[in-house]
Amino acid sequence: MSAYRRELLKQATGRVLEIGFGTGLNLPYYPPAVKSLTVVDPNPGMNAIAAQRVQTSPIPVEIKQLSGEALPFASGSFDSVVSTWTLCSIPQAEQALQQIHRVLKPGGCFLFVEHGLSPESEISVWQDRLTPIQKRIADGCHLNRPMQALVEQVFEQVTVETAYATGLPKMVGYFYWGRAEKEL
Ligand SMILES: C[S@@+](CC[C@H](N)C(=O)[O-])C[C@H]1O[C@@H](n2cnc3c(N)ncnc32)[C@H](O)[C@@H]1O
Repeated sequence: MSAYRRELLKQATGRVLEIGFGTGLNLPYYPPAVKSLTVVDPNPGMNAIAAQRVQTSPIPVEIKQLSGEALPFASGSFDSVVSTWTLCSIPQAEQALQQIHRVLKPGGCFLFVEHGLSPESEISVWQDRLTPIQKRIADGCHLNRPMQALVEQVFEQVTVETAYATGLPKMVGYFYWGRAEKEL
């Protein structure tokens, strides 16, 4: 997972918003081009561990306990928005993507790495069957979201790669990673 984080986050610049900060595992991978970080997560349980990581971060970090579907920031506030393995867990992912698009500056980019729907029907049929259970045991996580299509519903310019991650079961290991740019 760290290789995905490193490759993705080296593209982040300026004022950055991270959706679904979790325990702050992305923090060590933000490059010096990032001037400030605002992070959101509705889960209070994550905050204690995240706070420890934030203390040692050279980048100023503002933590907000709230959901990606209702971002309170002005339109055009951020140069980059980041989501790593979070769109699977957001109840209204389409709404969160609309918000992400809104808060990005024109020319800003949404950087993402997510797991989601497999193109193999023998896998996706089980992703559909098991998602109701997965949601219960894994804090709302959906196995079967078509991540590329979701991002393309909101952004016109999307560059995405997909593949099974090595060492993970196919059910959770079909990754989508890339960037989506907000039009100028
Ligand atoms: C699988 S964890 C990923 C955490 C982190 N992004 C990472 O890469 O390690 C999913 C995260 O999404 C968060 N989440 C759940 N619902 C959310 C929502 N509506 N808006 C934003 N984040 C949410 C969870 O609290 C959790 O921290």
